[in-house]
Amino acid sequence: MTLRELRHRARKVLGPIPYDYVAGGAGEERVLADNEKAFDRYALLPRVLSGSETRDTAVDLPGARQAAPVLVAPTAFHRLVHRDGERATARAAAAEGAVLVTGTAATTAVLDVVAAAREAAPRPPVWFQLYLHPRGEVTRALVWRAEDAGCTALVVTVDSPVFGRHTRDLRNGFTDLPPGFAAENMRGLPGAGPDALTPIPMSPAVRWPDLAEAVRGTSLPVLVKGVLHPDDAKLAVEHGAAGVIVSNHGGRQCDAVPAAVDCLPAVTEAVAGRVPVLLDGGVRRGSDVAVALALGASAVGVGRPVVWGLAAEGETGVRRVLATLRDEYDHTLALCGGRRNADLTADMVVRNGGAGA
Ligand code: FNR
Repeated sequence: MTLRELRHRARKVLGPIPYDYVAGGAGEERVLADNEKAFDRYALLPRVLSGSETRDTAVDLPGARQAAPVLVAPTAFHRLVHRDGERATARAAAAEGAVLVTGTAATTAVLDVVAAAREAAPRPPVWFQLYLHPRGEVTRALVWRAEDAGCTALVVTVDSPVFGRHTRDLRNGFTDLPPGFAAENMRGLPGAGPDALTPIPMSPAVRWPDLAEAVRGTSLPVLVKGVLHPDDAKLAVEHGAAGVIVSNHGGRQCDAVPAAVDCLPAVTEAVAGRVPVLLDGGVRRGSDVAVALALGASAVGVGRPVVWGLAAEGETGVRRVLATLRDEYDHTLALCGGRRNADLTADMVVRNGGAGA
């Protein structure tokens, strides 16, 4: 089964409003479409007679040694699509050796997410995604929760100074979670009552010094997610980032930016090997993973396909998504004459339609 088929199955089990929430993007959904289409514009130039019967596709990432090269990108509200919600996603990622990035907007508290991951593996790599709050004490409380839960890295999302205009959600009137669901990590934070929910922060008042403060305030590595401009990648490294994630939020923020993979080469060059560069957006096949790794990514994230797997088949469906991508990627690596991820190099990626790079 391909990941595209899984999306059709998810569509059948989900109501139209949750389906649109996951599937949709901002504005006219140009970026949403282009993230996937961009991968069609690249082709791989295999090397021959250089392969190996045994291949090693594991990667060392901040807070995750020997992880799968495909990780679970942070996506909100898993209990909205399946009753087992984030717990099922966590068990599946841990069982497949993939990093799970659980989010501020999870409908299950980070402590419970990590506990579920530990049911499937002894030391599962779980990273916590957060948005910086203009009030430092709120950010510090979220960071402390993630540390206390046993997360091994933080992912600070920086592409959301304001919330994206999700056309389908606006049309559907989907502006709030239905009763019975909440962003559990936002409960009982400083400045609110013990059970009260603080809105998820998205603020244009957040600046680079706030990132630096968050980095200083934790012993965990901090990755910066949502970087497209190469100069911002440099600034992230200068402010202490342990990794840079090239991402346009799956086409859910600015609908006029390039496809994520098209931004990867310039960011890789700017970072110049100082920290790992990751990518998410539009990854749907093992060959997409191979293109991204050849263009300089250490690993890639997948967002929507994981949610489709969860909606269609719960924990099994998420495992299927991660296993499919891993197997397809390993197969592509073999076809390209590689034995390790590093054997995929930029000269092996060409624009589709010609062998002249
Ligand atoms: C997201 N994404 C996201 N990112 C983030 O940093 N915090 C969040 O809360 C969310 N929430 C979220 C919800 C849903 C339903 C989707 C589809 C996406 C973005 C996500 O981490 C990732 O950047 C994209 O999903 C990657 O693109 P693909 O794989 O979905 O094409």
